[in-house]
Amino acid sequence: MVKQRSEIDKNINSAMGITMDNLCEELFTFMRLDCYKEVALEELPYYTNWAERIVNADCSLNVKRNNEKVLAEYDIDKWEKVLDLLQNTYFSNFSNATDLFFYVHLSIMKSSKLVNTLISFADDHIIDVETDENREKCQYRFRSFFIKKFKQDAEVLVELGSGVGRNMFALLQEFPQFSAAACGDLSPTGVKCTQIVSEYFNTKVDAYVHDHYDPNPSLMGKCKDALVFTCQTIEQLPKVPEKLIQSLILARPHMVVHFEPVYEHAFINNRLLNLLRRKYTQIKDYNIDLFTYLLDLEKSKEIRIVCNEPHVYGNNIFNPLSVIVWKPC
Ligand SMILES: C[S@@+](CC[C@H](N)C(=O)[O-])C[C@H]1O[C@@H](n2cnc3c(N)ncnc32)[C@H](O)[C@@H]1O
Repeated sequence: MVKQRSEIDKNINSAMGITMDNLCEELFTFMRLDCYKEVALEELPYYTNWAERIVNADCSLNVKRNNEKVLAEYDIDKWEKVLDLLQNTYFSNFSNATDLFFYVHLSIMKSSKLVNTLISFADDHIIDVETDENREKCQYRFRSFFIKKFKQDAEVLVELGSGVGRNMFALLQEFPQFSAAACGDLSPTGVKCTQIVSEYFNTKVDAYVHDHYDPNPSLMGKCKDALVFTCQTIEQLPKVPEKLIQSLILARPHMVVHFEPVYEHAFINNRLLNLLRRKYTQIKDYNIDLFTYLLDLEKSKEIRIVCNEPHVYGNNIFNPLSVIVWKPC
């Protein structure tokens, strides 16, 4: 049974001084989007072939997502390409890791012709930001906007499911208050990329191979009093990794911020875009129960949810990121 957003969530956000209206306005200004145009839903097929693919997809044919599939998709395919680029890149051309990852990302996007300039914003605005560079910058700004709101006086930053580590480096560069950082990912290739970049720029990030289904104790040990975040990694697990959330509660982080697509949020209304989003999640076999599990933990007073904002920002309009922030009780 999928739970819907309630009035309580709005109250949670207001208690933190955040309301959807002022948040959107603030975030929109923060993104500094000076050139953009709104796109109507019926025009989507002219921008992306995913609209038609979703409509025509037969979900019963889907391959189930598990660690083996994730490793084939990331460890062997995507992060191998990044590793290859890192091993053949003149680092001295870049003054910091963020610029390097930006270059790596754009090179890979352009070589695989994946360029897409649409974003979704504040649930149902679809915006063409005209270049992939703009889109990538918006995503960075969106994440740092929320980290700024919730970091308070945490001194340690931890990312779970960090891929090649690009989020970590960008946030460490922007927020020097973090004196230590750690991250972990299922993909040993992703972890290797993080280590190479960390050594080159002399930015100390402890990177571990870690499985959300069976958390690495050394990484969990770094979470005490830390600002812990996840970004599009719980999405990869059809079933919420209860063991990870339980280990986090025991580790007593300062705050946990999820930038994740939340399936339950696609049930807020039955607008066409949300119907397409539900089917996209089913096609990919992405997570469907993170929010339901967190609400249960809140009911049993194990955690307190301090922010729940649906569909704030989407680099993929069919898989937008919600922001959920919680802390152990
Ligand atoms: C879409 S990528 C996001 C990476 C990174 N958070 C970012 O935003 O660039 C998803 C990542 O989740 C990782 N992942 C998937 N399942 C995992 C698991 N069971 N444990 C740890 N990491 C996992 C993948 O290896 C991949 O690096």
